[in-house]
Amino acid sequence: MTAGGVSAVIVLAAGGGTRMKSTKSKLLHEVSGRPMLTWAVEAADALNPDNVVVVVGHQREQVLAHLDQVAPHVATAVQEEQKGTGHAVACGLADLVDGDGEVVVTYGDVPMLTAETLHDLVAAHRVEKAAVTVLTAELENPYGYGRIVRDIDGCVARIVEQKDADEATAEICEINSGIYVFDAAVLRNGIGKLRSDNAQGEYYLTDMISIARQDGGRVAGYLTEDLWQTEGVNDRVQLAAMNKEMNRRITQRWMREGVTILDPATTWIHASVQLAADVTLLPGTMLEGATQIAAGAVVGPDTTLTDCQVGEGARIIRSVGQGAIIGARANVGPFAYLRQGTQLGESGKIGTFVETKNTVIAPGAKVPHLCYAGDAIIDEGANIGAGTIFANYDGANKWKTHVGKNSFIGSNSVLVGPVDIADGSFVAAGSAITDDVAPGGLAIARGRQRNVEGWVADRKPDTKWDEVAKAASGDIHPAVQADRDKQSDMNNEEKK
Ligand code: UD1
Ligand code: CA
Repeated sequence: MTAGGVSAVIVLAAGGGTRMKSTKSKLLHEVSGRPMLTWAVEAADALNPDNVVVVVGHQREQVLAHLDQVAPHVATAVQEEQKGTGHAVACGLADLVDGDGEVVVTYGDVPMLTAETLHDLVAAHRVEKAAVTVLTAELENPYGYGRIVRDIDGCVARIVEQKDADEATAEICEINSGIYVFDAAVLRNGIGKLRSDNAQGEYYLTDMISIARQDGGRVAGYLTEDLWQTEGVNDRVQLAAMNKEMNRRITQRWMREGVTILDPATTWIHASVQLAADVTLLPGTMLEGATQIAAGAVVGPDTTLTDCQVGEGARIIRSVGQGAIIGARANVGPFAYLRQGTQLGESGKIGTFVETKNTVIAPGAKVPHLCYAGDAIIDEGANIGAGTIFANYDGANKWKTHVGKNSFIGSNSVLVGPVDIADGSFVAAGSAITDDVAPGGLAIARGRQRNVEGWVADRKPDTKWDEVAKAASGDIHPAVQADRDKQSDMNNEEKK
């Protein structure tokens, strides 16, 4: 769907964003995870023009730095003082070598304008053999916009700004979106003729309409039904509305691609996210950045994944992931925090209240509950007991810990890196491990238990403790006794 022959797209982005009340340029505020200006440049790029020129002014250090990063191919022109849209286009044209074809003008703060609409606009311009074609919309409340005045044959006669409109003109509901296709020669010849003799003392680009007509050109109006595509963002209320609408479109597109979304209103998906068919997203899920989710995975409720890869059939409940790779059929959560460098193998588990960072967990290995695993390598079949802490940081450096195949880490252990717990070994519960454990070994690193008989009668006589202690039979609780019996049976079995 390339239009071909479009000489340039000039993106106007010099105006201030006072009503955003932000230290950040308005153009860098995001819609569906992408700065508004990036949306505008992407739509411009899709026309395949010879040149894209962004006209910058207010807060231009930020804007230029951003363009340098995400769109180094675009040219920029500086409009020192904002003397109006006509003056801004003149600045954009200044550095362009003469070209045939068309010049398209768009705004940097109109993020929902699509490449398709721009393409259709250029196509209509060519069919009409127009000198200028204006993208228009019909609004219930057109206040503030330039009004489209059409003549009897339907051509656009002129555009009248709100401040210059008489009562009859103000009643016109068809508005100027500010997006146009110009015949390149008509624009070059006409732009110098603009005058600032109007209510705002600005050089209006809209005056190009009468200039083109005076030279015998036709001016066409191309009406879009999709009002969002002409909508600009001036404050954070409009920004929120725009995000909501963009997200509605993104979620709708994924549902049509075979993704189940239980509650689209509370599911937020950045434009850059990739989803396979038969993914299920539960309420409160936010998918951000370069996140990719494979078929059959179920994510949510209340889960935020940023730059994560999720394998087929994985299950992630009420968790946060950042830069994590989650294997096929793996289980995560509830309440897990997977930080940068986490790799969870196929069918592995990162369970409740577990935080992982820079940690590789082999296929099938499990870190089920209450654990911090930093800089860990956890091999196949390993079991990490509840409350295990991988102490990877000594205050200055980060160190690795390796837990070998089928090794068993007893609950509430601290493994102080760098340390290697070899294949098939055991760590007793409550141990603080600082020395390597050989294959098949058992490490116990804790104080021995000492019981003091009759301590309560001695120190706390006639208290609630003493009362029940005296009444107690002294027998072990039957449930515990049953397990004791089971243990000794098992030990006897092993000895045989
Ligand atoms: C302009 C149009 C109006 C249209 C409306 C659509 C003119 C004279 N009026 O109105 O018919 O209905 O857009 O939103 O063109 N900009 C610059 N440099 C400037 C002035 C503006 O780069 O000197 C940029 C702004 O950053 C913005 C865009 O041009 O992205 C439009 O500017 P804005 O002031 O919002 O236009 P309006 O005068 O409201
Ligand atoms: Ca405006």
